Amino acid sequence: MPKAAALSPGDTIGILGGGQLGRMLALAAARLGLNCHIYAPEADSPAFQVCAAHTVAAYTDQAALAAFAAKVQAITYEFENVPVETVRFLEGLKPVRPGAKALEVAQDRLCEKDLARSLGARTADYARVSDAASLNAALAQIGTPAVLKTTRFGYDGKGQAKIMTPADAPAALKAMKGQEAILESFVSFDREVSVVAARGCDGAFAPFEVTENEHRNHILHRSSVPANISEAAARDAIEIARKIAGALDYVGVFAVEFFLIDAQGGAVIVNEIAPRVHNSGHWTQDGAITCQFEQHMRAVAGWPLGDASSIGPAEMINLVGPAAAHWRDYLKDGRAHLHLYGKREIREGRKMGHVNRLLG
Ligand SMILES: Nc1ncnc2c1ncn2[C@@H]1O[C@H](COP(=O)(O)OP(=O)(O)O)[C@@H](O)[C@H]1O
Ligand SMILES: [Mg+2]
Repeated sequence: MPKAAALSPGDTIGILGGGQLGRMLALAAARLGLNCHIYAPEADSPAFQVCAAHTVAAYTDQAALAAFAAKVQAITYEFENVPVETVRFLEGLKPVRPGAKALEVAQDRLCEKDLARSLGARTADYARVSDAASLNAALAQIGTPAVLKTTRFGYDGKGQAKIMTPADAPAALKAMKGQEAILESFVSFDREVSVVAARGCDGAFAPFEVTENEHRNHILHRSSVPANISEAAARDAIEIARKIAGALDYVGVFAVEFFLIDAQGGAVIVNEIAPRVHNSGHWTQDGAITCQFEQHMRAVAGWPLGDASSIGPAEMINLVGPAAAHWRDYLKDGRAHLHLYGKREIREGRKMGHVNRLLG
């Protein structure tokens, strides 16, 4: 597919995935005069409520994919577990931004770490694990404590098992349910930070301010800027993100999650790459000059990127599971911006919304 010209107002962007990220992308696109057509397998997808058109079909349904592609001028995805073959198929019909390469790398924790290392970034020590023998070999090489993770399809801490001593190995392997896994040394980090950034069709790079992230029960709880990080470590993190985007010939918004070790002025260790807008970038909706959702839509449309500077100190709190029932409490603070995703059913661990606030 040749690189298409920039989209015009009134054109339609197709989005694979109908969760809250697709919903917020569609809302941002609407402000730019762009329509969104959401493609998702789930009939009750939250993004359907706010988009111009939608398709409910499987990611493997080529007839539905072709019909979808025929109605849009460019395609993106908000979900990194869309099959790579789906994106390859669509790439033959319309420009897909970011492309299949970014998806392929980000879907596999081994590929992700190989890429980070090849660009000179640090990662936890790691080894491929497919059975008891390779796990024992990996433990001999890496030691404990360590974390065993499925290489694919993990999110919010799912598909992970901690190995404190070699005696924990059999149970950890069982938790992988026969899927290919990666053993990682456990990083005793001081903080977690991320870089959310955009790369335009023209190669322009626009990083948001490095964000500090606090997880609860393996789910992001709070993101804030400024992060408690040295200038040098922040520069390193942004430089790593820039190199990753360049290596993937990336177009759109992405995130790189890091562990921060404070010793010697701070070192950043790449944890994972998300080839999409990211929960740790939600604060930009109310705390940056251009938010991550608008930025992604601009990049996908082939438009110039906006200014990614922060307006000031800001925080985002996720409303997860039953906490979402307290949404009204947040409105007592007139400076709080409430974002709810339109999900009808509150479930334990389900991301229902978030609250952004400018601090100070
Ligand atoms: N090697 C590691 N060392 C220390 N903590 C880890 C390691 N891997 C994961 N964690 C912790 O678990 C969280 C979730 O792991 P992550 O690899 O980001 O998977 P996902 O976000 O896809 O569930 C991380 O944000 C971090 O808090
Ligand atoms: Mg993560």
